[in-house]
Amino acid sequence: MVYQVEPAKKINGEIKVPGDKSISHRSLILSSIAEGESRIEGLLEAEDCLSTMGIMRDLGIEITKEGAGKYTVQGKGLDGLEEADDVLDCGNSGTSMRLLAGLLASQDFYSVLTGDHSLRKRPMQRIIGPLSKMGAQIWSRRDGLAPLSIKGQKLESMEYKLPVASAQLKSSILLAALKTEAETVIIEPAVSRDHTERMLLGAGLDLEILEDRIILKEAAARKLNPFQIKVPGDISSAAFFIAAGLLADQGELLIKNVGINQTRSGFLEVIEAMNGRIELLNKRDQGGEPTADILVKPSKLKGTEVSGGVIPRLIDEIPIISVLAVFAEGRTVIKDAAELRVKETDRIMAVVKEFEKLGIEIIENEDGMEISGPQTVKGGIEVESYHDHRIAMSLAVLALNTENGITIKGSEIIATSFPNFKDLLAEVRE
Ligand code: S3P
Repeated sequence: MVYQVEPAKKINGEIKVPGDKSISHRSLILSSIAEGESRIEGLLEAEDCLSTMGIMRDLGIEITKEGAGKYTVQGKGLDGLEEADDVLDCGNSGTSMRLLAGLLASQDFYSVLTGDHSLRKRPMQRIIGPLSKMGAQIWSRRDGLAPLSIKGQKLESMEYKLPVASAQLKSSILLAALKTEAETVIIEPAVSRDHTERMLLGAGLDLEILEDRIILKEAAARKLNPFQIKVPGDISSAAFFIAAGLLADQGELLIKNVGINQTRSGFLEVIEAMNGRIELLNKRDQGGEPTADILVKPSKLKGTEVSGGVIPRLIDEIPIISVLAVFAEGRTVIKDAAELRVKETDRIMAVVKEFEKLGIEIIENEDGMEISGPQTVKGGIEVESYHDHRIAMSLAVLALNTENGITIKGSEIIATSFPNFKDLLAEVRE
């Protein structure tokens, strides 16, 4: 689907972005293995989370829609899932595949996880390795590529040092460890999003969280209590509108109800370093997650360096940070971000290629990019989204700041995380 985005001078109004994708996946998975009825509000009803929901239903869980984003889940406990009679389709969602592989590795049945063309190219060895160390039996195509066949086993707990700061990997191991008895220790090279830990704690599990490690304490028979959760808005979706508001010449944008969990809010720190004018209003706790309304004003941005420990806390926001860098005064350097090369697409390659098509000067490095600004972008051409929702939305925000607009190909992929993105953008642009 081709998406034509015209330039805009003013970004103005008040919006709410859809529910957090990471929290939505986890609320569906953990409520399914809790004992009894859980209630979820504000669930992200986008393709990625609907893949997880479909799989939990295939595994015998009753999930009922009560209204927009409102669901009840009849959890059946850690031993209540049933073997599905077909392959389980994760679509474009790496979170579904990695978290569910961990969960299914300890179930007393056989499962096959597959996904779309992009997901079948993403590295799964990073979960197969540690899960196998726990005794899991998982087969893949060559080099650890999906489809994955999993013959559920009784697993052993372990101490494991993550080779990459990945919340998907950490969560996969935590889910696999739930049915073991001894202590599981996961050591992180840098802090990654902690929604799984928060939700497990909320469901009554004994978890110790230290600066560099997570300890799931020894327990004879763990069980998760059912829960009620109001999913906050996704900061990774809000980031596109924050960027649009900062880059506009006029207007003021209020984005309501955004999750600002420290392990996700590296983007806000980068905005501050770039002299972006944002205010966090009405800070509160929602469902165990810090939440706020974000007020965004047009800003004169300056370049910055984005590297080191902050990278996992803004990993999904790097494509949109690179858009900000084009219009910021001075040099922006993004490094230590080689993980971007194994996302829905190679996001360093995608940004560099499409920016170059648009005449933007950018240096590609193995682990990042360098951009000096401000640059003027003419636009008036067609660009690719590489079957990657965040590339498509980043290019849309870039288009607002060109002379002639941009046409984005393959924009239907935006529905994987942000189904009403185009409507919201149409609403706030003038
Ligand atoms: C996610 C973790 C991150 C992130 C992805 C969602 C999660 O991936 O990029 O969009 O929900 O755990 P990695 O764990 O591979 O860094």
